[in-house]
Amino acid sequence: MPIPFIAQTAFDGLSSIPYAYSGLKVVACLCLIALLKSYFGGAQHTADGVLHSKVIMITGGTSGIGSSIAADLAQRGAQIILLTKYSPSDLFLVEYIEDLRAKTNNELIYAEQVDLSSLHSIRLFATKWVDNAPPRRLDMVILCASTQNPRSSSGSGKTKYTVDGLDEEWQVNYLANYHLLSILSPALRAQPPDRDVRVIFAGCAGYIGGKLDFNALEEYTSLSSMAAGTTTTSPKSKKSKPSTSSTTISRKPPMFATSKLALLTFARSFQSHLSAYSRPDKQPPNARVLVVDPGLSRTPGTRRWITRGSLWGLLVYLLTWPLWWLILKSPQQGAQSFLMAVLEMGFSAEAVHAVSAAENIAKNAGNGDKKRATSTTAAVAAVEDVSKLAGVGMGIEKGKIIKECKERDVLRPEIMDDNVAKELWEFSERQIEAREKEGAVLRALEKKEREAWEKEKKEKEKEKEQAKGNGGEGIEVSGSKGNKTKAPGSRRSRKAK
Ligand SMILES: NC(=O)c1ccc[n+]([C@@H]2O[C@H](COP(=O)([O-])OP(=O)(O)OC[C@H]3O[C@@H](n4cnc5c(N)ncnc54)[C@H](OP(=O)(O)O)[C@@H]3O)[C@@H](O)[C@H]2O)c1
Repeated sequence: MPIPFIAQTAFDGLSSIPYAYSGLKVVACLCLIALLKSYFGGAQHTADGVLHSKVIMITGGTSGIGSSIAADLAQRGAQIILLTKYSPSDLFLVEYIEDLRAKTNNELIYAEQVDLSSLHSIRLFATKWVDNAPPRRLDMVILCASTQNPRSSSGSGKTKYTVDGLDEEWQVNYLANYHLLSILSPALRAQPPDRDVRVIFAGCAGYIGGKLDFNALEEYTSLSSMAAGTTTTSPKSKKSKPSTSSTTISRKPPMFATSKLALLTFARSFQSHLSAYSRPDKQPPNARVLVVDPGLSRTPGTRRWITRGSLWGLLVYLLTWPLWWLILKSPQQGAQSFLMAVLEMGFSAEAVHAVSAAENIAKNAGNGDKKRATSTTAAVAAVEDVSKLAGVGMGIEKGKIIKECKERDVLRPEIMDDNVAKELWEFSERQIEAREKEGAVLRALEKKEREAWEKEKKEKEKEKEQAKGNGGEGIEVSGSKGNKTKAPGSRRSRKAK
């Protein structure tokens, strides 16, 4: 078939073949689409490996990119702990975990309730995790959860607040991660020295538009001060607390971008915090902090952002779906850089130590002390290790973000500024402390109220029962505490006979 076709084209020209030009145009179009799709699909990681026995905690593992990461890691044999805002008995969650277990042939997938929009919920989980002797195994924490309020970023003025009275984007995207890691930090540092511990943050190119103005941050991020003059009720004062409430706010920087900038700044100082720890066994620190930017992907979060959370937006999105299919990555493609951060040997603390050992050797050789430097077998082995590694990751410590499976420089100088990092750390500590204190007082008040209400209810029921007894055949007489004597003829005394 192809030979007569080629022969006819050669002798009689392409025009002699019916629909040849149309066919060629279609083929050219398909090739162009395939090329664009492959370009926008981004890079694929090449790292490989199994993760049997590793314990990996992941936030946002129930949807979008986080869900793809969780599935891939489970398939490689890791034990997965999904931190979700729902209770582990939630029907959706139970079904999701059962599906994931069946799909990945891995039974070691569990869920823990950690609502990132509640500081109390984070503390309950993290303290329970840390209060364990000996310390539990924890190889990795992947922080993928996020929230984006499309209306707030579009400047239309609607802001959502959490139960702690903080901007939802600020709390879920940044402060919750700070809180969770601050409490989990001893558990991370207590891992044996030969364990490859990694903390992976989900960054976003949006951080470039963030603004860390510490004089105004409390005002921008909290309900009480921002809402002065615009609202009179705080979500905390409501009896049945919804998880979020809305109010109208003006003059605010883009909070999603600011929360991501804060997250990246914190990621670097968290690495310094982990590295500064002096281990009792005198071994070098073994935890690495990495930041990944997955690139624009077709996830529920992105859909909400594109549609601006409206039905009209959804309609337009559905009508233009082929365009989004072409230019946005699938969640699996978005997960590639995360998988590289998890699997690539060059990102381990061990690789970093090997590099610094090699650097020392080079320095000593440069100082003319070559003999002494090379005589250290450990150092020589370290150099060999380095040469075996495909590439050593610098991590956020050196101002690098993993994007398209490559390390790129961060684009905001604040991230590398120790003073900004210190100020942010202290600010976050203060904000959490204040909000947790308020929360504790409110919970105590609520408890008291509930107890008083229950007591009242019980008394009313008792009165009702007594009234019933009075209206009946006998009178019930209360004796000493908990010891009731029944009047003869009462229903109870008859029952007792
Ligand atoms: N998608 C992109 O184009 C893109 C681009 C750059 C960076 N990123 C970053 O990559 C990460 C993953 O993005 P994505 O688009 O896959 O996210 P997504 O689809 O919006 O999913 C967000 C996840 O966060 C969880 N979450 C939200 N609020 C929570 C709370 N209060 N407590 C606990 N969990 C909560 C959600 O849980 P539920 O499912 O239970 O609601 C969900 O699993 C994010 O950090 C995002 O900023 C994404």
